[in-house]
Amino acid sequence: MSGTSQDGVDVALIETDGDIITRFGPTAYRSYARPERALIRSATAAAANVTERTARPEIVAKAEAAVNRAHVEAVETFLTANSIQPRDVAVIGFHGQTVLHRPERRLTIQIGDGHVLAARLGIPVVYDFRAADVAAGGEGAPFAPMYHRALARGLGLEPPVAVLNIGGVANVTYIDGDDLIACDTGPGNALLDDFVRLRTGKPLDTDGRIARAGIVDQEAIARLLAHPFFAKPPPKSLDRNDFRSWAGAAFDNRSVEDGAATLTALTAASVARILPLLPRVPKSWIVSGGGARNPTLMRMLVERLAPARVQTADDAGWSIDALEAQAFAYLAVRSLRGLPISLPTTTGVPRPLCGGVLVEP
Ligand SMILES: Nc1ncnc2c1ncn2[C@@H]1O[C@H](COP(=O)(O)OP(=O)(O)O)[C@@H](O)[C@H]1O
Ligand SMILES: [Mg+2]
Repeated sequence: MSGTSQDGVDVALIETDGDIITRFGPTAYRSYARPERALIRSATAAAANVTERTARPEIVAKAEAAVNRAHVEAVETFLTANSIQPRDVAVIGFHGQTVLHRPERRLTIQIGDGHVLAARLGIPVVYDFRAADVAAGGEGAPFAPMYHRALARGLGLEPPVAVLNIGGVANVTYIDGDDLIACDTGPGNALLDDFVRLRTGKPLDTDGRIARAGIVDQEAIARLLAHPFFAKPPPKSLDRNDFRSWAGAAFDNRSVEDGAATLTALTAASVARILPLLPRVPKSWIVSGGGARNPTLMRMLVERLAPARVQTADDAGWSIDALEAQAFAYLAVRSLRGLPISLPTTTGVPRPLCGGVLVEP
């Protein structure tokens, strides 16, 4: 899995029949090197004008080769480190790197070629998970909800439970028994990462330290939350760069601390903005993704979601970093078995739909 934060590749092994999860295996992370990140950023910018999902302008083709390479390396290192033989892995779920997500144009592009991975690793690969959903009129995101529901069954928490993943974009899964609702809530880390990189040259606000020293501009938050996306009921999804120019302008004249504080608060406030759009208020929240590693953001979430209990995925016995990667392993097995991987209540697809493309080595 490599998400919209464009930070690196997460690897996770699970044991599952596509329904029940019987075991969490080891996990690993292979960060993108600086030039790889820059290449993926350029490819994302270049892909904005692409109208065909198979089109690969030169810079996008270059980025795709780098994405393939990074994933092959990540898996090879993972197998060696854990003494796992390729024949012991039934299937790899390969998400690829999203460079464009425009479901309203029935277009979503994840670069990364399943054929390359299967051939290099000698393991069957399922990839291109989102294409069928978008082609059928779905949002093409989020895709982790069915995995969240399978995990939540084991927790015994009082419903409803919300699982919040804070990657580049933030998305929520609302679970009330078998009822499942999911959508993107708004920006996750991407706007903050971009702002901090622009101002300091560093790729992230490590441990929320910059934001902690700043003052939140509540008026700006209220103004930004007036954007029609936030009032729209689920399902709904975002492209990483949807809010970029729109929010960017509001931050030009701020100190780096105040800007970071306000962008962090924007993420928390946009998560809380989903509450009136849900059938009931969740009793507890489980937070995964890199955003769960940001204590300033976590503190703001606790404030905005009170009195609900807010805990990290690690605290719940899951994994902050590996949850999304595990989800795509789970979906790969579901795809092999022909089971649905998206639902009308998660992506807005007209009927439960299978997806993913299988490549044998
Ligand atoms: N220690 C940390 N402090 C603050 N933010 C963090 C920390 N660790 C990770 N992050 C944030 O999480 C992001 C990566 O999150 P991730 O879940 O991998 O997102 P994605 O699924 O979009 O790749 C980083 O870009 C950064 O914004
Ligand atoms: Mg990531």
